[in-house]
Amino acid sequence: MSVQLDENGQLRHFLTTEGLDPALLTRILDTAESFSGVIGKSVKKVPLLRGRTVINLFFESSTRTRTTFELAAKRLSADVLNVSVDTTTTKGESLLDMLRNLQAMQADMFVIRHSQSGAAEYFARHVDPGVAVLNAGDGWHAHPTQAMLDAYTIRQHKGDFEQLRIAIVGDIAHSRVARSQIHAFNGLGAGEIRVVAPNTLLPGDIDSLGVQVYNDLGAGLRDADVVIALRLQRERMQGALLPGEAEYFRHYGLSEARLRSAHPQAIVMHPGPINRGVEIDSSLADGPRSVILEQVTNGIAVRMAVMSLVLGLQPETAREST
Ligand code: CP
Repeated sequence: MSVQLDENGQLRHFLTTEGLDPALLTRILDTAESFSGVIGKSVKKVPLLRGRTVINLFFESSTRTRTTFELAAKRLSADVLNVSVDTTTTKGESLLDMLRNLQAMQADMFVIRHSQSGAAEYFARHVDPGVAVLNAGDGWHAHPTQAMLDAYTIRQHKGDFEQLRIAIVGDIAHSRVARSQIHAFNGLGAGEIRVVAPNTLLPGDIDSLGVQVYNDLGAGLRDADVVIALRLQRERMQGALLPGEAEYFRHYGLSEARLRSAHPQAIVMHPGPINRGVEIDSSLADGPRSVILEQVTNGIAVRMAVMSLVLGLQPETAREST
């Protein structure tokens, strides 16, 4: 049974983009759009989560996700706690005891990043009714808010997904981002999703994911409207899956020259952090086609949207209560 949806098909937690229907995916994007105006104002706050408590639990490092979740919660007027998980876990406390103690402080929402696939769902299955869990990245499994901020950025630039060719290039095998993107883009009706990688960087279940597989970068980029580079996740690789970074860049690195086969209006994306000169050339990452920093900005509105939806709140409610 899906733990992330309630009996009416509404979000209770946000754990994965897999299996979400187009209407719900679109609702997340539309809700984010309604929040984007808040972010541009001089007073960047709405009172939607006033009096609620959000606890960030990051067991893995993060720059973009942790800070934009914190900013999103603050923009919604929630109280935010960033728990030092090193302190807690080195004293031998189990995840479940930690959760119970934090819940005893009347937390309304947990944002969790963990190296173990399934950690966020484990939390979701053990929280009290009414407490929400948001997955900020679990192992190789999912990074659903990253996928939704990427979808949001694509919709801003390209509109409808139906005609789009989206190429995801690089380390698909170890990427929770790629997996969540594929589910989200398929759910939103993308015309064609391509993955471009050597066979050693493709997951075993790639044939079941609804994508076109390319080993050749030039062919994979041909006429693509959206090109997404992924970081080489060396920390998740066991053994030598690649000959070397220079060799990898020669075959799969994105550069202005390699992008010539893509559509002339193609946008270039990367979830970050970037390894310049490994998966993407600096001139492309910093160039006019890059929307990489827009992705980061959009992360705030998308995370505001997800935080309000899992609590059953809408931006209209915010206007009523001001
Ligand atoms: N894209 C992403 O998850 O970045 P962080 O690791 O900095 O959060």
